[in-house]
Amino acid sequence: MSDDRGAGHEPYRDRSLPVEERVEDLLQRMTLEEKIEQMAGLRMEAIDSLYHTPSNPRLGIPGYRMVDGPRGVRAGQATAFPVAMARGATFDPDLERRIGEAIGLETRAKGGNVLLAPVVNLLRHPRWGRAQETYGEDSHHLGVMGAAFVEGAQHHVVASVKHYAVNSIENNRFTVSVQLSERTLREVYLPHFARTVRAGVGSVMSAYNRVNGTWCSEHPHLLRNILRDEWGFDGFVESDWIFAMHHTAASANAGLDIEMPAPRVYGERLAAAVHAGEVSEATIDAAVRRILRIQLRFGIFDGLEPVDPSVVACPEHVALAREAAAKSIVLLRNEGALLPLDRASSRRIAMVGALAATANLGDRGSSYVSPPFAVTPLDGLRAAAGSVEIDAIAVDAPDAEALARVASADAAIVVVGLTAADEGEGQITAGDRTRLSLSDEHERLVLAVAQANPRTVVVLEGGSAIEVERWVERVPAVLMAWYPGMAGGHAIADVLFGVVNPSGRLPVTFARSEAQLPPFVNDRDEVEYGYLHGYRLADAQGHEPRWPFGFGLSYTTFAYRRLELDADHLPADGTLVARVEVANTGARPGDEVVQLYVGCERSRVERAVRELRAFRRVHLAPGESAVVTLEVPVAELAFWDETVSAWAVEATTYRVWAGSSSRDLPLEARFTVVP
Ligand code: BGC
Repeated sequence: MSDDRGAGHEPYRDRSLPVEERVEDLLQRMTLEEKIEQMAGLRMEAIDSLYHTPSNPRLGIPGYRMVDGPRGVRAGQATAFPVAMARGATFDPDLERRIGEAIGLETRAKGGNVLLAPVVNLLRHPRWGRAQETYGEDSHHLGVMGAAFVEGAQHHVVASVKHYAVNSIENNRFTVSVQLSERTLREVYLPHFARTVRAGVGSVMSAYNRVNGTWCSEHPHLLRNILRDEWGFDGFVESDWIFAMHHTAASANAGLDIEMPAPRVYGERLAAAVHAGEVSEATIDAAVRRILRIQLRFGIFDGLEPVDPSVVACPEHVALAREAAAKSIVLLRNEGALLPLDRASSRRIAMVGALAATANLGDRGSSYVSPPFAVTPLDGLRAAAGSVEIDAIAVDAPDAEALARVASADAAIVVVGLTAADEGEGQITAGDRTRLSLSDEHERLVLAVAQANPRTVVVLEGGSAIEVERWVERVPAVLMAWYPGMAGGHAIADVLFGVVNPSGRLPVTFARSEAQLPPFVNDRDEVEYGYLHGYRLADAQGHEPRWPFGFGLSYTTFAYRRLELDADHLPADGTLVARVEVANTGARPGDEVVQLYVGCERSRVERAVRELRAFRRVHLAPGESAVVTLEVPVAELAFWDETVSAWAVEATTYRVWAGSSSRDLPLEARFTVVP
């Protein structure tokens, strides 16, 4: 297949020809049966952990080998990275690009050529069971992180962005119809998908749910009008697994190219639909063209170079997982500067909680990854403790004797949070969370430890926001460590001891109660999504969340000094260029995430008060300052005008804020868009 013999007669085998020419040549050699065969996976079960689409030996079509997923390769052993939500907290697209590249390389080493990641479903509510698989609640941030992953992964394989679209509830994922306005769809739930398309993503996975009554896998508006006609996506769309497709002709006619993992709705039924005239041959050709195009464009058709299995969980990738975990940990509270803990002056530190001795890596559904080893918080603390004695009390209900040891320790660290038993994929694992808070047992544990020892640090784990109101004021220090991946224990210890200055920022609002969030309905066949959620809802309703979107403390301090805009008048097709001066005013080097929000004054329509439009992570030495340049294309400030079904940039005044979170924005400026 990889030689050029016969290329003169078979132009599609000629690597020197343009991809489109090769596709057309190949297509016209295929029978209808061969085309239809390409439009579904090979069989229900994975082969060596990979889901195959059919090869065609007669024509040398190799087929796809697909594998999950978002925190590492789900095939045998692989590097287990921190979950995507943790990586969202890094606000570091360059790091995310490197992680995408590492997972892409490991996918290749496993024989895969399509990576079923990233997830860029917007987190509307933190009880969503798969919150951990996505990057957060803000569309801009989500799109930037997802696009970076795609760029990295596609150095080696095809990335498949999922789940298109508006998939953010688990328990009713196979049936629910999300009802939302065209404006909410366009502005809130889709722009991040568009950004991954602009990044060149080769494949899109359709979601299980319905949107405004129509299944996502047969949704002409989503699949054809928006994805293909407007965004210009020319890759293939595959269905989510087994239960996403419902009607043969409707799916084919909407532009669903590959049914996964096996023909159920396609196959013979698709052939029958063509014979019955319900699906045209031109429609089949268009689908097969997209399927072949990506095999040719990504070099799959001509045979990818094998990648040596030694890259899997290699020291570089494990180090990358550790770096990501370190950058993802968010310091939420640090009263009296309890942290970092001083190794020189501590003799004994108690570490409490069953999770202290657990490698808590996240869901066990399709995003599950099995690493060759994993560092628990206790392992990590012990490895970093030097001469400090670490007193392990790895239970959730310590007895009086254990609590006495907690009381006499120099400090207590209690590890609590969520696990795969609390949240995960619907139907196959835990599904949606039943509560926003910790379990009663974990709340009791925190309170008991805090009562025994005033120098208590709470390390939280989990896939998204946790409500902390019943205990947070009783403890001086809180970290959010997410599901930190196979090297997470080291990262937690590094932050606790100050080897690493925490720099994660919340990619999701930590509300004080569910009352501050939109309703979460996971037991009905129809749910309504409004325009506002997360910090946009908190701002509009004047709620004070416990910790706002973008928030995170550091062991140093930063000052925002100056915000300058290059121009105070801009055309609708212009670009806002903002320069923000930020300084490290403390005594330690640290990373700050400079955030730029924009709001529209006197809009014709309901708007968010402000929205994140740009961000940049910067490293600053003590005393150092930097001018960070942030750019926002004015077109991104448009709203979807339902009266004319088009984007509209309002010619009005816009307010710009810069600062360290959605609620700490000391610098302000204004500019006007001119007609
Ligand atoms: C999940 C997808 C996953 C697929 C294959 C589905 O249940 O929703 O995210 O890629 O299974 O494992």
